[in-house]
Amino acid sequence: MSNRIDNLLHEARRFPPTEQFAADAIAGADLYEAAENDRLQFWADRARELLHWHTPFTRTLDWSNPPFAKWFDDGALNVAYNCLDRHVLAGNGDRIALHWEGEPGDSRSYTYSELTSEVKRAANLLTSLGIRQGDRVAIYLPMIPEAVISMLAVARIGAVHSVVFGGFSAESLRSRIDDASAKLVITADGGYRKGSVFPLKQAVDAALAADGESTVSHVLVVKRGGNEVEWTEGRDLWWHDEMVAVDDEHVAKAFPAENPLFILYTSGTTGKPKGILHTSGGYLTQTAFTHRSVFDLHAESDVYWCTADVGWITGHSYVVYGPLANGATQVLYEGTPDSPHPGRWWDIIQKYGVSIFYTAPTAIRSFMKAGRQIPQQFDLSSLRLLGSVGEPINPEAWIWYRDVIGGGETPIVDTWWQTETGAIMVSALPGVTTLKPGSAQVAIPGIQIEVLDDEGHDVGLDSGGLLVVSEPWPSMLRGIWGDPERYKETYWDKFGDKYFAGDGARRDRDGDLWLLGRVDDVMNVSGHRLSTAEIESALVSHPMVAEAAVVGAEDEATGQAVVAFVIVRASQADVATADEASALLRAHVAEQIGAIAKPRTVFLVAELPKTRSGKIMRRLLRDVAEGREVGDTTTLADTQVMQIITDRLK
Ligand code: PRX
Repeated sequence: MSNRIDNLLHEARRFPPTEQFAADAIAGADLYEAAENDRLQFWADRARELLHWHTPFTRTLDWSNPPFAKWFDDGALNVAYNCLDRHVLAGNGDRIALHWEGEPGDSRSYTYSELTSEVKRAANLLTSLGIRQGDRVAIYLPMIPEAVISMLAVARIGAVHSVVFGGFSAESLRSRIDDASAKLVITADGGYRKGSVFPLKQAVDAALAADGESTVSHVLVVKRGGNEVEWTEGRDLWWHDEMVAVDDEHVAKAFPAENPLFILYTSGTTGKPKGILHTSGGYLTQTAFTHRSVFDLHAESDVYWCTADVGWITGHSYVVYGPLANGATQVLYEGTPDSPHPGRWWDIIQKYGVSIFYTAPTAIRSFMKAGRQIPQQFDLSSLRLLGSVGEPINPEAWIWYRDVIGGGETPIVDTWWQTETGAIMVSALPGVTTLKPGSAQVAIPGIQIEVLDDEGHDVGLDSGGLLVVSEPWPSMLRGIWGDPERYKETYWDKFGDKYFAGDGARRDRDGDLWLLGRVDDVMNVSGHRLSTAEIESALVSHPMVAEAAVVGAEDEATGQAVVAFVIVRASQADVATADEASALLRAHVAEQIGAIAKPRTVFLVAELPKTRSGKIMRRLLRDVAEGREVGDTTTLADTQVMQIITDRLK
């Protein structure tokens, strides 16, 4: 890590905005000034400017009971009305909201009027199924328009969605359904991925058949994959049958600004994912503001595409809520970047004339590896702004992205934020900031970031520390579902009433921020957050495993990769060869959590390195996994153990 940062800090390339870009940009330097003068007034102005309030608010922030914040709390709004109806009423009903592209090549476009009608129908359908304000609805869908329609329909009636990424297993789905006591699941028969259909309904059936009564009374099934599904009469309903039976008129009622909007589960340092809770008014204010100013959205002319799945926070904030609140035209794509050919993404950019493109460094690195000749076969000249999210982008990838995808001209905004922050917190503003490849740069206007040492002192310029948000912000998480204590402990205990993000960071001499990765036991694999503890508990749930330790090892393609060290039970030791055991355990993790959590490597070992108090020393295992000389072992209970491990792996 220290080598990497030394290299980064020697990165001297600078890219100021062109005069033309700066002149046409939505966001100017005056925003920083306004926010500095009066931060709360700044956010109140944004909330009024960007959203429609059925009942205007008079209070901006209530921070009388930290860390439980309330924003705009005497105001009332309807999130879906803000994303749909008001654009139609403003005369933009014929503007395309979604250009949807299915993986097999089928496509469908929805204008704002059409999307509004669909969401109204779906809202009536949910109401007819007994869903009321505050009820939880689990959504387990591929990237099809119905995913967006479902989320907005839930929001429209004041209920709470919990979207579960379609790549998660039945087990993961069930634990999320149970934790939130979801009443309804919206799923599909299957979706397309890498040229074939992956089943989803089957996983829902398995999830609901697991031990113990489930809270789910209905399962709504969208027909997408055309694959065979089993049917539970009385519980399961086809989306297309039900949607035609309901009215497409629905009046959006206003809900309080702090009405819960969604729960989204994310990995923490324990085995149990945390249900991050977001509410309505503050969340929509900051997602709309950042989407407009960071991506310089000119809604009448831009075509925007964010490649994230709606199962992640990026999909919530920058596929659904931010863009639709701003009346953007966007692309939604179902499949993988390389199906059916390695240039599929670039093909889509060419087809729809995408002008703003937002993706993750891991994707960029994999395209770099495949070579520039692939994107060069397509006309990418419509692009005028590129974005990056999910993990640090190394300067080489940054330059390649700008040169090959952006024609050597487009600004790149590297955006730092988290599931918990709800919206972008650190990023350049493309018409204002001189860009530095590899740095996420500066807090957006209205956000206060500090870099502190363990004792809470500012580390100053040119040194590393912990990234902290020192003032509450509108789209901040409001808690962990059902666990206020864990919310306080995880984020607020360390620095009093400042939010501890779990990331290391450094400010360079100009004050620009460089993100250094997680400082806790959370891994970042292809921009997805995974917990070491969660994968360890999946591994030890297999009868073959006595003990397991998981680390995130540096990986050129995926940023980090999951590497597991496993002690096999003596009674099982002869059951399989090391290769077979490793394959079996990788498959077991995929089944327990989902394919994204599958270890890259499983090492079978005789011992694990532990301190005298029994804590596994992951630092040493990371040395082994990354092929380095093993570091200081003096605090180990048994100093021989690393020798035993490395001998065995030779
Ligand atoms: O470590 C940071 C990394 O991703 C974590 C948040 O993950 P998640 O909640 O899944 O949200 C990802 C998409 C917003 C952070 O704690 N991270 C995210 N963006 C960046 C980043 N690291 C460096 N640079 C970024 N731009």
